[in-house]
Amino acid sequence: MSKNEKKATRTISQIERGTVIDHLDPHVVFQVVRILGIDDQIEDTVTVGTNFHSNVLGKKGIIKIANRFLTQDAVDKLSVISPSATVSMIEDYEVKRKFKVKIPELIEAILKCPNPNCVTNTEEWPTRFRVAVRDPLLLFCTYCERYFGKHDIEIL
Ligand code: CTP
Ligand code: ZN
Repeated sequence: MSKNEKKATRTISQIERGTVIDHLDPHVVFQVVRILGIDDQIEDTVTVGTNFHSNVLGKKGIIKIANRFLTQDAVDKLSVISPSATVSMIEDYEVKRKFKVKIPELIEAILKCPNPNCVTNTEEWPTRFRVAVRDPLLLFCTYCERYFGKHDIEIL
């Protein structure tokens, strides 16, 4: 991280325990907030920042959620929405684990197939997509055998 980027994000409070999602595509920050199920009922501290200067991305978003750790499904959803994201797990103010999200080879049960005739939509059937191309993301529904771009897909 560059000095300027550090300066810009230092204004956001450090957290004692919980998750920091950094290097988010700034166009999806509030979508990620929704997908994580963060709403007005939440009791813990949440900080959402967007359009911070980033050397790598130009602009980036950050979400900090106290006392919450992401499920694998949430990390996988995040990888589809913002492949640039990094996730840090904080305990006692220290980064205990930090990783960059990675789109899984097979994406199961977290996305909706856009094809209304797909068996995953006509019956209660979990979806399964294979990653055909990573960048720009192209997914292949293993049930209806059609290809879909990232923007066709809805996150469940
Ligand atoms: N962080 C936090 N609270 C803490 C410790 C870290 O909110 N108690 C945040 C940092 O602000 C940063 C992320 O967790 O957004 C990862 O921390 P660290 O690895 O220390 O940051 P940098 O090396 O500066 O980040 P980068 O991944 O951009 O290199
Ligand atoms: Zn399908």
